[in-house]
Amino acid sequence: MPASARRPIIAANWKLHKTVAEAQQFVTDFLRLCPDTDTVEVVLAPPFTALAPLGERLRATALSLAAQDVFWIDEGAYTGEVSAPLLADVGCTYVIVGHSERRQYFGETDEAVGKKVEAVLRAGLRPIVCVGESLAQRQAGQTFAVVAQQVERGLAACTAASAAQVVIAYEPVWAIGTGVTATPAQAQEVHRHIRTLLARRWGEAVAEAVRIQYGGSVKPDNIAALMAEADIDGALVGGASLDAASFAAIVRRGGKGS
Ligand code: 13P
Repeated sequence: MPASARRPIIAANWKLHKTVAEAQQFVTDFLRLCPDTDTVEVVLAPPFTALAPLGERLRATALSLAAQDVFWIDEGAYTGEVSAPLLADVGCTYVIVGHSERRQYFGETDEAVGKKVEAVLRAGLRPIVCVGESLAQRQAGQTFAVVAQQVERGLAACTAASAAQVVIAYEPVWAIGTGVTATPAQAQEVHRHIRTLLARRWGEAVAEAVRIQYGGSVKPDNIAALMAEADIDGALVGGASLDAASFAAIVRRGGKGS
């Protein structure tokens, strides 16, 4: 499968930002700027509180909805948690799992990420599995090993069929919210490494089908160079996704060969 067979996927991770009204306004503004997003799949990941209303709103559009986290058990006495079937119920098609902020501030382990990935797939949704090394790990030459372990443990329960449903987001921790982007070459070598791992475990066809996003200080002025790399299939955008004009510019420049 040529690289171009993978449809680029650009996702807005709003983190802990936007009321329901602000989320609705964003959709209005974004669709005015970017009415046609055929060549790129666009995903919005608002806070939990905006999922249900945006799910209703996005139904008539080509935009997809993602949650930023999930619990791995479907229902029960787990105060405060939200499960994958409930996310499916309000219109999510994707769930971000294992974001570095969850690993860093909420103690999320690779094992927890694996259970969440399994739960998301069981509910018929698609996980966006985040991996990435810290600055200290990069400086110690551990980038490939760290990322390999995160991918292997995060996708531990996957069959070839379910692995093909997964999106992986490579987000080097040192590039998140810092204004320091990985160079296209730095990102590409890790993306290639991830695809090689996928091929070894699940075969060439799965490896070629899985989309690997880059995340970490993606902006309108660096997206095209990142997307020009063979194994970069999209972006997971934080800060620059909060403003509709900025996110629309990223989406417009985010196609392959744009
Ligand atoms: P920034 O784009 O703000 O660096 O955040 C990246 C990120 O963490 C997306 O999930």
